[in-house]
Amino acid sequence: MNVAAALASARIEPREARLLLAEASGYSEASILAHPERELPETAAARFGAMAARRRAGEPMAYVVGRREFYGLAFEVSPAVLIPRPETELLVDLALERRPRTVLDLGTGCGAIALAIKHGLPQARVVAADRSAAALALARGNAAAHSLEIDFRLGEWFAPVARERFELIVANPPYVAEGDPHLAQGDLRFEPREALVAGPDGLAAIRKIARHAAAFLMPGGWLLLEHGMGQDEAVRELLVAGGFDSVSAWPDLAGIARVCGGRIKSE
Ligand SMILES: C[S@@+](CC[C@H](N)C(=O)[O-])C[C@H]1O[C@@H](n2cnc3c(N)ncnc32)[C@H](O)[C@@H]1O
Repeated sequence: MNVAAALASARIEPREARLLLAEASGYSEASILAHPERELPETAAARFGAMAARRRAGEPMAYVVGRREFYGLAFEVSPAVLIPRPETELLVDLALERRPRTVLDLGTGCGAIALAIKHGLPQARVVAADRSAAALALARGNAAAHSLEIDFRLGEWFAPVARERFELIVANPPYVAEGDPHLAQGDLRFEPREALVAGPDGLAAIRKIARHAAAFLMPGGWLLLEHGMGQDEAVRELLVAGGFDSVSAWPDLAGIARVCGGRIKSE
């Protein structure tokens, strides 16, 4: 089978078909466009056929390819982890602005936030925790691939960092409400429930983190939390109730409040 026939047989969006064919064959996208008559080795054709079938079934491109870029770094991803989202880059921007020397990333998933922070602040000590062993295995591999030293911990929220304190705690926790219709649409259908859903109002994880975070922060330390659209008012209230000052919300590039944060009083 040649390149043109393979692309035509895929029955997916042409640009995605070219990306998957490049992945399966090792040919560049430019050479795929330039040489449609080129014969494909059988193994590449078979690999491409399998990838196209997964994409036709709706599986996210990031899972089919096994990779997603976040904050300029490539991350290996699998159905064990949430696919890092561009809007989460705001959380990293806000973290880097604060130049913390010690950072805790709760619910690290594939390690996207922790690695982006460590990459931007190589001197910082970064601890990254998740209750999913499969996610941590992937995150460890990503840290090794980028030669970034992260201290990974397995466990429920603050359990793996008992009696430690940080200058900054960041989290992009699950924040979708049970029964939200978006869970049955698009990429969300394929992502781990535990990475997405947080109780009947979507705030169960944020409530827990906001309630306990102060005990794990140094004086003057910040907590920054990503949240869902329309949750900013509730998250701000939870931060005030958790003992935080300077409570603020920050919008993403679309102008939607995406991150709320607060500071613990300096002594
Ligand atoms: C929305 S995903 C975020 C992943 C990654 N930080 C990112 O931004 O791409 C939430 C993560 O929180 C983890 N998680 C959910 N409940 C948890 C809990 N009780 N304790 C620790 N981690 C938890 C999930 O395993 C998942 O990796």
